[in-house]
Amino acid sequence: MTRATAQGEAVEGIDLTDLARFADGPPLDLYRSLRDHDPVHWHEPTERTPDGEGFWCLTRHADVARAAADPTTFSSCTGPGRDGGGTLIEDLPLGFAAGVLFNMTDAPRHHHVRRLVTPALSPRRLRELEATLAVRADAIVDAAVERGRFDALVDVAAELPLQAIAELLGVPQADRHLLLGWADATLDYDDRELGESTDRSQRAAAEMFEYGTELLAAKRRCPADDLLSTIATAELPDEALPGGTLAELEQQMFFNLLIAAGSETTRNSIAAGLLALIDRPDQWAALHADPGLLPDAVEEVLRWASSTVYNRRTATVDVEVEGRQIRAGDKVVLWWQSANFDDRAFDEPERFDVRRRPNPHLAFGVGPHFCLGANLARLEVRLVLGGLARRGVRLALDGPVVRTRSNKHQGFRSVPVQVVAP
Ligand code: HEM
Repeated sequence: MTRATAQGEAVEGIDLTDLARFADGPPLDLYRSLRDHDPVHWHEPTERTPDGEGFWCLTRHADVARAAADPTTFSSCTGPGRDGGGTLIEDLPLGFAAGVLFNMTDAPRHHHVRRLVTPALSPRRLRELEATLAVRADAIVDAAVERGRFDALVDVAAELPLQAIAELLGVPQADRHLLLGWADATLDYDDRELGESTDRSQRAAAEMFEYGTELLAAKRRCPADDLLSTIATAELPDEALPGGTLAELEQQMFFNLLIAAGSETTRNSIAAGLLALIDRPDQWAALHADPGLLPDAVEEVLRWASSTVYNRRTATVDVEVEGRQIRAGDKVVLWWQSANFDDRAFDEPERFDVRRRPNPHLAFGVGPHFCLGANLARLEVRLVLGGLARRGVRLALDGPVVRTRSNKHQGFRSVPVQVVAP
């Protein structure tokens, strides 16, 4: 399909489905060109684009926020004329992922399931969890610092989120690294392109599915005070069509979603924050000198990392945005990462500043699908950064940083560091 485009020279021929564009970090120049020259950009399909179909790119903070807050017009499930949908650029099958996986459903189903799971991540529940997580964070940071040389991604950034999500879901801690391995294998694009799977990713998905099935069955037989038991035993009201208990597939997908969301994104944000601070010793020193800066520093780390790069919607009706006509059924991609570097919303957005205020970042999205784990993620980033800052530890890079190859989850696989000053 070809359409009239409004973009100038600067944005012709861009390919946001080319994972190489993300290999060295966020493509900030490209986002800036789009925001300035063609903020509602029709992205023609390229040889790499899944489904061979174009999509709209919203890149300005205001447009992204407005679309995310309007689920009636911009569905997380699907739109007219489609038999697939969801929140990835590639269409996922309706009734398997789209419309079943919690974050790929719309109201009323989404509303009812969200009400069911929200208490497990409420501020009150997190206050209860904080003491346990603080002890865990201390142990993780102490062990790493004692060694002097460690992988900031594997040994520090990944560990706390993983232990926390295992605790919340009711997964035995001994199994947590199995889950991490499966999540990595299904989310990584090291050896494949968008929309493709490999033996490794298929095997990991199958093993995670089998593990989840057995664990959910165990929770059904013997429910405990954890989120998986809530999901496994839930009854929904009739108006939450298709109603009744959560189907087994839905429970299973929820398990997969939380393993990925709970482990992948936060570790990448922590690692991106540590790298930003290693590069800027003055900012690290400021944080060490004044722990009161920590809450603002956490928000800046989340903005800077923007570890969830985008989420897609599907237009349910014809709609005009910034003078461009989007048609019912079109794919519309909300680039959170671009929105977080929009100079219409942030003063000098390409400057990392632990004192930044206000900081209206969209790292957690906005609207009805606002990240369910936002408060947990904030707590985790605070405990790790705060733990290192409190100890006065200064870190330096100790080898090449390995980034993930993805336009969806941006982050790292290895960040070797050494302690240069305690
Ligand atoms: C820094 C870490 C994190 C980032 C950047 C992040 C980002 C996001 C974003 C952008 C969304 C919105 C998706 C959309 O609008 O389509 C989202 C939703 C969600 N996140 Fe997170 N997330 C993080 C951590 C977590 C954690 C720790 C958990 C689990 C404990 C979690 C669970 C979820 C869930 C379940 C949703 C779906 C909410 C819904 O559809 O109602 N996230 N996240």
